[in-house]
Amino acid sequence: MLRDKIDELLEQVQQMSAKNTEEIEALRIKYLSKKGEITALFNDFRNVAPEEKRELGQYLNKLKTVAQDRLEQLKEQAEAIREQEDKADLTRSADPIVLGSRHPLSLVKEEIIDIFSRIGFTVEEGPEVEDDKHVFGMLNFAPEHPARDMQDTFFVEKEVGVQKPTDILLRTHTSSVQTRVMTSQQPPIRVLCPGRVYRNEAISARAHCFFHQIEGLYIDKQVSFADLRQALLYFAKEMFGADTKIRLRPSYFPFTEPSAEMDISCNICGGTGCGFCKQTGWVEILGCGMVDPNVLESCGIDSKEYSGYAFGMGVERIANLKYRVKDLRLFSENDVRFLQQFQAC
Ligand code: PHE
Repeated sequence: MLRDKIDELLEQVQQMSAKNTEEIEALRIKYLSKKGEITALFNDFRNVAPEEKRELGQYLNKLKTVAQDRLEQLKEQAEAIREQEDKADLTRSADPIVLGSRHPLSLVKEEIIDIFSRIGFTVEEGPEVEDDKHVFGMLNFAPEHPARDMQDTFFVEKEVGVQKPTDILLRTHTSSVQTRVMTSQQPPIRVLCPGRVYRNEAISARAHCFFHQIEGLYIDKQVSFADLRQALLYFAKEMFGADTKIRLRPSYFPFTEPSAEMDISCNICGGTGCGFCKQTGWVEILGCGMVDPNVLESCGIDSKEYSGYAFGMGVERIANLKYRVKDLRLFSENDVRFLQQFQAC
């Protein structure tokens, strides 16, 4: 019986392992303290028959030595690990950190802001969740204007799951920031409104349910269409190169009169015609016009004293022209292989 018990404990103590001094101490208590399992065997030893005493006594002593040696060994190991830790080289330089890169849309946005800030524009931002009044109403959209239609605009349910008519929506353009500026400031006003906008479109390589815009607004006494044209020509040359030409085509927006769309000479073929510009030599980049007097009045600005121009462009569109990104979805998928390509920009 005693022999079996010694066999069993011998195996246990040979396999003892511990991570730190507390664990080693716990093992010592378990086996070798006054109430330890090995100590208990020495008590049992008194009852062993005299003829067995010699051999079993040696065996029992062996168990005790093996246990003590193993604990000693574990102590040395723990000590060695501690010394290693103490010796850590605090002067060693840190592992290199992988640097991220600016998002291409941020790069383009900053560049546009930088160009217009040189002619006096400052930046204003506003909420993405807006009301009908600021996105459409004050901008001269007729009540039945199709842009308000469910097809284009994301409306926000006031109560979850309840589709009641609502005038809370995701802004479809950052002109909403302009209405906020016009109602809170008096001219002269010269602001850029960058931000994300939302339209209910199927997602494809050429369209997304959200994109980014930068709109501009300038209101002062005697602002003319010539001022608008000159500011946009300056922008086009700064952004796409000094040889860039612009062309304004008549268009329609509820909030500007007259309205125009601006093309720049294709910066890929230089205007001679290529696949990108569909052989026309021109690519459209923004909408613009003179602020409709109705808009000024609905924002509390005297339209007899003041006039102004506004323009708006899609940041993705400008980024496409600059970096030739073929699929719009790449801008929002956050694939680092795509984003890393802008590291040097
Ligand atoms: N808000 C227009 C749009 O989202 C762009 C625009 C802004 C047009 C200002 C003219 C003047 O398409």
